[in-house]
Parts: sequence; C-alpha cells; structure tokens
Amino acid sequence: MKLCIIGSGYVGLVTGACFAEVGHHVICVDNNQKKIDMLLAGQIPIYEPGLEELVTRNVAAKRLMFTTSIEEGVAHGEVVFIAVPTPPQADGSVDLSYIEAVAREIAGVLKEYRVIVDKSTVPVKTGEKVAETIRRYNKTGCEFDVVSNPEFLREGCAVPDLMKPDRIVIGSNNDRAVSLMKKVYEPFMAPILVTDINSAELIKHAANSFLALKISYINAVAAICEASGADVEKVADGIGMDRRIGRNFLNAGLGYGGSCFPKDIAAFISISRQLGVPFTLLEEVERINASALEHFLVKVREALWVLRDKKIAVWGLAFKPDTDDIRCSVAMDLVVQLLKEGAYVSVYDPKGMEKAKELGTLKKATFAASPLEAAQDAEALIIATEWEEFANVDLAALKKTMHTPLLFDGRNLLHPDIAREAGFTYVSVGR
Ligand code: NAD
Ligand code: UDX
Repeated sequence: MKLCIIGSGYVGLVTGACFAEVGHHVICVDNNQKKIDMLLAGQIPIYEPGLEELVTRNVAAKRLMFTTSIEEGVAHGEVVFIAVPTPPQADGSVDLSYIEAVAREIAGVLKEYRVIVDKSTVPVKTGEKVAETIRRYNKTGCEFDVVSNPEFLREGCAVPDLMKPDRIVIGSNNDRAVSLMKKVYEPFMAPILVTDINSAELIKHAANSFLALKISYINAVAAICEASGADVEKVADGIGMDRRIGRNFLNAGLGYGGSCFPKDIAAFISISRQLGVPFTLLEEVERINASALEHFLVKVREALWVLRDKKIAVWGLAFKPDTDDIRCSVAMDLVVQLLKEGAYVSVYDPKGMEKAKELGTLKKATFAASPLEAAQDAEALIIATEWEEFANVDLAALKKTMHTPLLFDGRNLLHPDIAREAGFTYVSVGR
C-alpha cells in the first residue's frame, strides 16, 4: 500500500520504517528541514536499536522516502498517519496545536478519498475535532475518514514492539476505513481490536496510566520494604508470579520519566476533571512518582552530609536504557538537583550525552568519555539509568578509581551481595 506519515520523530520514523519493511511504500513527512536533510543524507536523527539498518535497507529498496511537503505525502498515501507531538501545557492538559495545524494542512491539499489516522496520543474526542477541522478547511468537499490508531511502542525497543505488537487498536465507525486499516496491518499478523474512535483514544491514556500506576505501586511498596527490612525485588517476584498481576513494570527505582508517562498521566487527570469525573487515584500516582527521587536524594545526603564541593559521578542521563531520549528524564532531574546543591557532577551516558549537551541545563557538569572516567576520584557514584554497560563494569577497577567506594543504585541494577563483596558501601531502592 502507499502510506504517508506526518511527523518523523520517535514514533513516525520507526513506524514508517517498519511499514516499509513489510512491503508498503511510505513517505515520511516532517516540517523540520534539518531532520529531513539528515534522513535524505542517510543519517538517523535518533538512536533506536535496529532502526538504522531498517531505514537504510528500505530507502535502498525505494520503499521509504522523506519530504518536508505534506502535499506530496497526502498525494502519495491512501492512508495518512499523523504522528506529531502532543506536549503538555502548564495545567497538565494537552497542547493540540500541532494536531490542529496538520489537520488544516491536510484539508488544504486533500483532493481524493483518504483515511486520516491519528497515531499521536490525544485526549478522547480529538478525532471528532480533527474531522470537523478537515471538513471546515477542505474546499473540494472530498470524502475522507478519520481513524484513531494509538501507538504502544516503547523507546529502546520500538522496532521489535512495532514488528510484533501485542495488539493493534483501530478506532473507527466506518467499514471502508476499517478494511483499509486492516490491510495496512495484515503483514504484522497481530490481534486487531476494532472500536469506536473515542474508546480507541481512551485505551491509550488508560493503558499508560495503568502502567504508571504499577510503577508507583511498587515504589510505594519499596518505601515500606526499606522501613521494614524486606526486599522489594522478592516482593515484586512474589506478587508478579500471580498471572493476574504479572512481573512487568514492577521494578522499583527513581520513578518513571520519558516523553510519555508524565505527560499522559497529567493529561488523563486533566481530561477526567474536564469530564466531571476526577480520577484522583492518578494524582496519587504522580505524587508517589515525584517523591521517589526526593526519597533517594535523602539517602545520598545522609551518607555524604553536605553535597557542596563533593565530586559525585552519575551514570545515565537517558530516561531509560537503549535510547538517547532525555525528555523528562529523572536522571537529568537528579543531576540538575545535585548541581543546584553545589556538587561537582561528572556524568556518563552511552547515548544521551549529545542531547544533554544541546539542552544546556547541565552546563556545570563534566561529560566523561566512559563510566570509569566519570567515576574517577568521585566520593559517590549514582546509577540513574540501568544501561547494560554499567552492569558489566569491572567493580575492582571502579573501586580503585573512586575516592570513596560509595555506590547508590537508583535502578537496582547490581546485585547487593556482589557490590558489597567488591568492597562498596551499597545503597539501592527498597532492599
Ligand atoms: P517527536 O517529537 O519525536 O516527533 C514528532 C515530529 O513531528 C518531529 O520530528 C516534528 O518536527 C514533527 N512535526 C511537528 N509538527 C509538524 C508539522 N506540522 N508537520 C510535519 N511534521 C511536524 O515525538 P514522538 O515521540 O514521535 O511522539 C509523537 C506522538 O506519539 C506524541 O503524541 C506521543 O505522545 C506519541 N507517542 C510517543 C511514543 C514514544 O515512545 N515516543 C510512544 C507512543 C506514542
Ligand atoms: C511508554 C509505554 O510503555 C509505551 O507503551 C508507550 O507507547 C509510550 O510510553 P516508554 O516511555 O518508551 O514507553 O518506556 P517504558 O519502558 O514504558 O518506561 C517508562 C518509564 O518508566 C522509564 O522512565 C522507566 O525507567 C520507568 N519504569 C519502567 C520503571 O521505573 N519501572 C518499571 O518497572 C518499568
């Protein structure tokens, strides 16, 4: 099929590449000229495992193309996916101006029937607004359908998540659109759930909120474990073995971050308030999440007393491993706080450092070339992102290079016995 994706970021680019991989002919559109120039020059603007090979292969096969022109994209794609940002506003509600702008642009160039698919994460009832906008700004009166098709990929494993999805949700009230959408997804051989548009939109916010709830739940349990001498990993294993609960998303740590959970939970709270049915449970989820970092910093301060002028190493800046994404990263917040308290902070992240340097909030930190270089002469080391590279560091060499062997593991990456046997004072979360 001929497909168009508008917005070539973490979702749009990976989706476009995966669609091309299964045989579709895809044009990825972006209004960021620099991004499109990079893609046309064979460079990948984001780090995502497996993405570069996928893009290179499909560009060579002429199944994947890039442009800044929505007109060109809409002329090409019988199905047009929207994957532009839906960032939060100060009050937690969603800024839908990117979606509205794209809907208007599509309307201006729409000449024959198209299925317009919202893949961005949006509040319930956005589909209705998109349809209204296209109807209002399209002068040809041409037919179209709007479909909601939320995306569930996780960064760091976006390619496998897209190639082998747990489910595809198609929100539409129209048979013609549903059958075209089924054709798009047929090669993926995944279960397909067809719903109305509002339900599809709600599924996305409800799913992310439930996952965030699991994380806050285990972080609250971790605090009780610390106070009582229990081990949160064992507790998570024990409750996770119940198939009704499951072990996934029960890893205690510094709390959730990233470009999705914080904004989507805030959005769901805001939507529920607007609908007159406040979802107060999610406010507690947010509160527990915010307190996870603060609770961890209390332990750092207890051990180091005054942070001013102390050299602290931090491993990890990305919001999770296997990505260069530092948006709403708890690791970044941690470094900012340490700098604010006057510590000398030396950081290392395998993929996140370029974006952190560009952002400029860590100007006072030192960016090291390796985990051991970051830890040199440090009075404490904090693991803030659980990259596998950190789990494989030679602990004897680490101890030797540090001023004091004090290790705070914010992601429970290391085994406490192994760290202690290597001579570290080891502090982790909930154990
Ligand atoms: P992103 O910022 O990485 O990419 C969005 C892209 O859209 C950017 O490249 C931007 O230049 C482009 N863009 C903005 N306005 C445009 C316009 N008018 N015309 C053409 N291009 C335009 O964002 P993302 O992480 O890919 O997220 C996109 C949407 O998908 C959001 O709603 C997000 O909540 C949702 N989502 C994200 C993830 C994730 O893991 N990142 C997962 C599921 C859903
Ligand atoms: C999330 C959703 O999982 C995905 O379905 C949706 O499409 C986008 O949002 P993502 O943000 O890429 O994906 O990463 P995810 O693996 O969900 O992790 C989010 C945050 O939760 C990270 O900061 C991670 O460190 C944290 N987390 C995750 C925990 O603290 N504990 C866990 O057990 C799992």
